[in-house]
Amino acid sequence: MSCMLAALLHSALPCPSPCHCSSDGQVVNCGGLGLSSLPPLHLLPAESRSLLLPNNKLSVLGTSAFANLSSLEELDLSNNYLDNLPGGLFQDMSNLTRLTLHNNSLTAMDRELFQGLGGLQSLDLSLNGLSSVPLGLLDELQSLRWLSLAGNRLHALERAAFEPLVNLQHLELGQNPWECDCNLRDFKHWIEWLLYRGGRVDAVECTLPKDLRGRDIRTVPVEMFNYCLQLEDENGGADGSRAGSPCSRNNVNPDATQNDNTNEESSSSSAGGEGTSECVRSRYRPVSVRRAIGTVVIAGVVCGIVCIMMVAAAAYGCIYASLMAKYQRELKKRQPLMGDGEGDGEDREDKQISSVA
Ligand SMILES: *[C@@H]1O[C@H](CO)[C@@H](O)[C@H](O)[C@H]1NC(C)=O
Ligand SMILES: *[C@@H]1O[C@H](CO)[C@@H](O)[C@H](O)[C@H]1NC(C)=O
Ligand SMILES: *[C@@H]1O[C@H](CO)[C@@H](O)[C@H](O)[C@H]1NC(C)=O
Repeated sequence: MSCMLAALLHSALPCPSPCHCSSDGQVVNCGGLGLSSLPPLHLLPAESRSLLLPNNKLSVLGTSAFANLSSLEELDLSNNYLDNLPGGLFQDMSNLTRLTLHNNSLTAMDRELFQGLGGLQSLDLSLNGLSSVPLGLLDELQSLRWLSLAGNRLHALERAAFEPLVNLQHLELGQNPWECDCNLRDFKHWIEWLLYRGGRVDAVECTLPKDLRGRDIRTVPVEMFNYCLQLEDENGGADGSRAGSPCSRNNVNPDATQNDNTNEESSSSSAGGEGTSECVRSRYRPVSVRRAIGTVVIAGVVCGIVCIMMVAAAAYGCIYASLMAKYQRELKKRQPLMGDGEGDGEDREDKQISSVA
């Protein structure tokens, strides 16, 4: 009897056509159906946990596309053509723990996109066209443990954007055109902190600069980025990482400032022709020039001081020696018997002096 009732209830469960719903209503599978718009999601069973929409042709979603779907824990939108998702799209999905946007056409993300996803544990953004991760985007994702940004067009990331991810354990960053210059320095520090906490990061292979091509940024020593601090000083501090400005790319070579010879070489070669890089001129060469001037000035001052001290010491020694010689000579002349009295001879010499005076 109860079996029949249960069967009756199940068959009565709503399921948005043309999707397939599991018998307990927890999994709603709309994958691979060629959908270019969402099925009627208000028909979703109240107990549904997973909504699977992969391998469709979805390209646009409205702001309220997933409104009232707070029971969902998993949403799979992989292998679609989504290119521009509205901010607040997932804000009602407070129970969502797993979101997959793998293999879409995302090139930019609204910084409010992941609002309301405080319980999200896994976020897959791999294989899109993302070139940046905006500040604030990840701020609410404090439960996130797994994040993939692999296979995008990222060349740098800002540390501050990732700092809210206090529970992150696993980060995938592979297959991006990373530029291992000053813009990546702070993020490298953050990666090291993540590794220290026991987290995992896959290989971050540098694409630029040329001499670091193919190197894993995890193995590039932090010291290679020390020159960045000087660059920041030169640029008036905080604005050291002007992502997006042409000067932030390509032109700064971590190796070059390691010694002044290479430095001068690259300066002179850029001066020698091809008006290639104004940036090298405006941002890079002044550093080396000022550095050289500073070195010369400091060296000059130090040498000067040392020289003066040596001259003074020599002069003092000479004067002292000649005075002493003269004094001894006179002493011997006047008091031949006092001879070479040592030690307590001094007292007598003093007396002699006073008696002479
Ligand atoms: C969400 O639910 C509320 C009330 O339960 C309803 O008024 C509203 O129309 C629903 N929104 C959507 C987009 O289904
Ligand atoms: C969200 O999850 C909690 C804990 O699993 C559950 O008690 C609650 O009913 C869920 N909310 C909805 C709307 O299903
Ligand atoms: C990405 O999605 C497109 C379109 O859905 C599909 O043809 C392609 O095979 C997918 N690529 C991968 C690597 O999944």
